[in-house]
Amino acid sequence: MCGIIAYAGNKPAASVVLEGLKKLEYRGYDSWGIVALADNPESAENAGRSFSVIKRVGKIGEINWDYVSEAIRGESHVAVGHTRWSTHGGVTEQNAHPHLDCSGKIAVVHNGIVDNHQEIRSGLGSHKFLSKTDTEVIPHLIEEIMSKESLDFVAAVRRAANTLKGRSAFVAVNSETGQMAAARKGAPLIMGMHENSNEEFFIASDVTAFLDYTNKVMYLDDNEMAVVDGKVAFFNLMSGNELVKRIVEIHWHHGSTEKEGYDHFLIKEIMEQKSTLSRAINQDDAKLLAVANEVKNAFGTFLVGCGTAGKTCVVGEYLFSKIARKHINSVVASEFANYQHYLTPKTLMIAVSQSGETADVLEAIDVAKSKSVRVVSLLNVFGSTMMRVSDDFFMVNAGAERAVVSTKATTAQLAVLTLLAYATAGKLQEGKLLLMNAASAVNDMLNPRYEEHIKKLALQLVDKKDAFIIGRGLNYPIALEAAIKLQETCYTHAQGFAGGELKHGPLALIEDGTACIAIVANDETKQDMISNAAEVKARGGYIIGIAPENNEVFDYWLKVPDVGNASPIVSIIPVQILAYHIAVLRGINPDYPRNLAKVITTK
Ligand code: M6R
Repeated sequence: MCGIIAYAGNKPAASVVLEGLKKLEYRGYDSWGIVALADNPESAENAGRSFSVIKRVGKIGEINWDYVSEAIRGESHVAVGHTRWSTHGGVTEQNAHPHLDCSGKIAVVHNGIVDNHQEIRSGLGSHKFLSKTDTEVIPHLIEEIMSKESLDFVAAVRRAANTLKGRSAFVAVNSETGQMAAARKGAPLIMGMHENSNEEFFIASDVTAFLDYTNKVMYLDDNEMAVVDGKVAFFNLMSGNELVKRIVEIHWHHGSTEKEGYDHFLIKEIMEQKSTLSRAINQDDAKLLAVANEVKNAFGTFLVGCGTAGKTCVVGEYLFSKIARKHINSVVASEFANYQHYLTPKTLMIAVSQSGETADVLEAIDVAKSKSVRVVSLLNVFGSTMMRVSDDFFMVNAGAERAVVSTKATTAQLAVLTLLAYATAGKLQEGKLLLMNAASAVNDMLNPRYEEHIKKLALQLVDKKDAFIIGRGLNYPIALEAAIKLQETCYTHAQGFAGGELKHGPLALIEDGTACIAIVANDETKQDMISNAAEVKARGGYIIGIAPENNEVFDYWLKVPDVGNASPIVSIIPVQILAYHIAVLRGINPDYPRNLAKVITTK
């Protein structure tokens, strides 16, 4: 949710920032902007001020350097960029970042929300605001503090950061001194550099923005700031004390971040499930058994996540019950605080998140930590905040997910949760065999003929506004997840239900031709699911069966392999492909659904 990349060094700064922004685009793609500090102010477009700024509405996607250099002229070795997911103020050039103070000497990019922006703005009565954003108060506040309190830029940034309320992170740059100052208060910022060298520094919302240049990082924690001024120094925001930081080397191969011949990242990532599942199950047995032991001994275990990861957690609840005979609770992260009364130091939280940066999950972890709960995370992004605040973590190893819509990370999370359930039941090897079989079945299933068969169905559904998805047992949460896939990918109004629930109300919505996807696994739920599908068909519904075997009740059959308790993994894949093709047929860019962002760092 908003991406920040700042660079100071010996390379052409604006161009480094432009490329970094492209890697961060999944965080927000309403608009983007770059501010560069010209080495020679006279050669900059706006001579007299040494900043040059470009801001545009839309995705940075294919924007090339020639286009940017129209606005960012001259040599520059300090630049800051931002890609926006709007919170306050519409999607306009004025509201795009960077925002400047009245003098035009302080530029700020920001990720998160300034909760007290109205109060700050009204205290800055004489300042001229050009946007409707909360962010714009930051450069003006820094300017005000510098002038009223005669503080230097760095001290003023610290004072300003301490004034802001809410989860956020920002980078400010001063055109007079060339200093860059970054503050972290609840949203991620990572510093990249080279060991024993002051040649170049990166500050970014996540490491992927600069991993092509360096894998040596220093993490900013909450309430810390970094100042880059030919060298880097870290300070505690509250005390102002200088901090000693350790350089950490990241050895993380997040896979290719290019489309590699596919039309979209989404279909590439769906197809990558041919190999991601085997990577996901390649976990350290000792760690799996240790966490399984924690589940066994915990006084209550909570699985916590949001959106798709939240649905994965619900599958986890069913898996632990069915396989390990263990009741654990799945809770939507934004609701977790309501369960704090049940937390004790013997409680265990398993947090599931692709990005490891989702604010709602981080807040849930804060709640858990305040009650001394142990936290184990399932993550896909190495070095994320969640990785660092958790007591232990598993990487699900799906590789970089660039499409906003989660696919391969979801099935990888499902695989690791299945392994944990089997480990808790004392049957880890059985679980591994099951998943290896599922991984190979997925590899076979994802072939061009299969995709073509689903594409034909997409053609039939392209004009249908609504879809219902039903499932039972392990596949009930997959019905919920399938609904998210259709909603966010192709904007179909989709709703998932437990198979038994339709007759309690939603059946009234079924008309002639209403699309209903029935997930019919070859398990104890099969007969009831077939009956539920028949009930829908009897009322005119068009039944799309996702099942290992065909059935007369199905109007269209999407075959999936029979993989026992791994069925949630295989059941969701045809829906991912279907949603993708409907989106393409509707002319929607499936990589960048409207109104969404990949990483949600606001509550
Ligand atoms: O990074 P996270 O897994 O914590 O993200 C959670 C949700 O925001 C995410 O799953 C979202 O629902 C996706 N758009 C699903 O495709």
